[in-house]
Amino acid sequence: MKIAILPGDGIGPEIIAQAVKVLEVLRREGLPVELEYAPIGGAGYDASGDPLPDATLNLAQQSDAVLLGAVGGYQYDALPRSLRPEQGLLRIRKGLNLFANLRPAQLYPELANASPLRLEVVSGLDIMILRELTGDIYFGQPRGIRTLDNGERQGFDTMVYSESEIARVAHVGFQIAMKRAGENGVGKVCSVDKANVLDTSMLWREIVTEVAKEYPAVELSHMYVDNAAMQLVRAPKQFDVILTGNIFGDILSDEASMLTGSIGMLPSASLDANNKGLYEPCHGSAPDIARKNIANPLATILSLAMMMRYTFARVDIAQRIESSVRKTLQRGLRTADIAEAGMEKIGTDAMGDAVVAALLN
Ligand code: IPM
Ligand code: MG
Repeated sequence: MKIAILPGDGIGPEIIAQAVKVLEVLRREGLPVELEYAPIGGAGYDASGDPLPDATLNLAQQSDAVLLGAVGGYQYDALPRSLRPEQGLLRIRKGLNLFANLRPAQLYPELANASPLRLEVVSGLDIMILRELTGDIYFGQPRGIRTLDNGERQGFDTMVYSESEIARVAHVGFQIAMKRAGENGVGKVCSVDKANVLDTSMLWREIVTEVAKEYPAVELSHMYVDNAAMQLVRAPKQFDVILTGNIFGDILSDEASMLTGSIGMLPSASLDANNKGLYEPCHGSAPDIARKNIANPLATILSLAMMMRYTFARVDIAQRIESSVRKTLQRGLRTADIAEAGMEKIGTDAMGDAVVAALLN
């Protein structure tokens, strides 16, 4: 198991260190893990003037999986766009062809009171957001800021999806829905678009409907993205798998994270066609709380669990990590972002140690 570790910026290094503690335990038990570190984002820029140094991309390409912290920091805000930390992230996603981004939003019963929504709205919540990750307005050309004849400047981007890009992510969506439904259950895919306005979305809807014919056991519905944003807070449990494009998925997954109490709990997997993957927490680099030992490392640890499940097909290890997180929450241990009033808060490091302790139990 050759794993590239890319801590990145802000809280990245400290949350990654907690996931690495978990990996070290597994290695001591005999799991053949091999870790190699490389800089990305602002750290890549600082090290070699590029948010995705060649050596980092090469390492990622030669590894079976990548574990990434987060990128971004105030000190890089003034850089031209091509040098900004986020470009490192977008380029590694594209460079590894990681078109399928899985963002599961699950409510841990222990955190039910951390959600700003009423308990009955969110209890038992278990949604999988599948976001297309290498196309759409994120990568479409042309884009830029141009000056019109009258001297006024105009910004423009291109939303674009080809049939094959839509079909391949749709297949992943239906397959996930089937897996989640198990032997006899009915999986549900809700495809989210803006087909009442956008041509890109009209094609999206057409292709998804076509692909659905190959999965008669899965129920397909369609929803406009504005309605989906509303339904996610009104009645989120109606969803099973949400299948959507890059920009809509970016927005809806942040929204869905709050259903679970904190974005600090949300892991993600970004997969290519062969289940090679990049695993990262959904949250950002939170530079305001960096190096204060207060960030929540659980999303990163849960991302490691996803790596075991999807890239290494070690469901047993994935479940062991997930149940260790569960046990830690059951013990009442909380970082600041998920602590209820009156609860004792522990730091990033202590949370990592607690998960390791649960793992060894
Ligand atoms: C995410 C982030 C990134 C995105 C940013 C940091 C480029 O918001 O992973 O959701 O927009 O994809
Ligand atoms: Mg985002």
